[in-house]
Amino acid sequence: MKSILVTGGAGFIGSNFINHILKERDDYNIVNLDKLTYAGNLENLKESESNPRYSFVRGDITNAELVHYLFQKHSIKYVINFAAESHVDRSILGSEIFFRTNVIGTNVLLEAARRYEVERFLQVSTDEVYGSLGEEGLFSETTPLSPNSPYSASKASADMMALAFYHTYGMPVVVTRCSNNYGPLQFPEKLIPLMIINTLYDKKLPVYGDGLNVRDWIYVIDHNRAIDLVFDKGRIGQVYNIGASQEMKNIDIVKLVLKNLNKSEELIEYVKDRPGHDRRYAIDSTKIRTELGWKPKYCFEEAIVKTIEWYKENRKWWERIITGEYQSYYERLYSNRSLQ
Ligand code: NAD
Ligand code: TYD
Repeated sequence: MKSILVTGGAGFIGSNFINHILKERDDYNIVNLDKLTYAGNLENLKESESNPRYSFVRGDITNAELVHYLFQKHSIKYVINFAAESHVDRSILGSEIFFRTNVIGTNVLLEAARRYEVERFLQVSTDEVYGSLGEEGLFSETTPLSPNSPYSASKASADMMALAFYHTYGMPVVVTRCSNNYGPLQFPEKLIPLMIINTLYDKKLPVYGDGLNVRDWIYVIDHNRAIDLVFDKGRIGQVYNIGASQEMKNIDIVKLVLKNLNKSEELIEYVKDRPGHDRRYAIDSTKIRTELGWKPKYCFEEAIVKTIEWYKENRKWWERIITGEYQSYYERLYSNRSLQ
């Protein structure tokens, strides 16, 4: 049995990972450490909570005492670090918590992992550490890091710290850098769920700038299948890019959501651009495909419809979370972008 500390497992990708992996693997014992910030939701883990191979601890990855205690108590030998502040727009409103959680928190985990001699530490990262592309080209693992937002700068710092622990102490670290995820359980501040929910409410759809920024989309289950594979078979000290080669312009996604929900494009409202908005992300995932045999199972056209259906069928899930803190965030962010 592998005793794995999964951090941030109540968020979008982490909860999908835990729900998926407990079904796929019977040799994983998972301890989920999550602070339950606005983005963490235990409801996401309903199907896993009664599993005897799963336990939950509410706590902060920057709390070294707690982290060391958990390593000892659960004889942790493996770590998958999903925990992060994950939203670019929020990092523009205030960077401090991004530095604290993403950089200091990762460092606390790395120090504990060093002390308790873990057998594997997987740092979940993002393609945003590479910066922005022009019309041509792809990010490969050797593309120089050039993060532009406080979010991506904090993730790049954490990646480099993790890799430094491999180089300096020989810690068995692997880093994954994935493109934009979509799917069930994603917090509605991100593009796809925000557009679906606003459409369902007949609210305006705020498209930043000219709407022609490009992201490379991957269904969350494909990301998690890749994480499991790198966790199991990735070479230590290596970085693996994860992407499904599904580039889309933002405006095309917005139009697709509208079409699928039979709503008029009049809901679209172009708003003031995000400061420092990266133009294009696109991933070269040749390494994980050729070395580990991974490839995506889901194509965008089908999985986006599946995702829209999920939000239609799970209104209660998102209606509960778009109150309170989310409403004040939404008003703060979009009020100075002239969205009515
Ligand atoms: P999310 O915001 O949905 O979830 C983050 C989780 O981390 C939440 O449950 C939150 O409560 C928890 N958390 C935050 N601060 C914490 C702390 N100090 N201690 C313990 N727990 C804390 O994020 P997500 O979209 O699921 O992303 C997960 C990881 O994947 C992040 O590291 C992110 O950088 C990375 N990533 C995300 C994407 C994407 O498209 N969403 C793409 C590539 C990589
Ligand atoms: P987002 O989901 O925030 O992911 P990231 O910034 O990490 O790529 O945004 C995806 C793209 O959608 C990005 O180019 C910004 C754009 N966007 C909008 O146009 N309007 C919105 O309301 C949001 C949240 C994002």
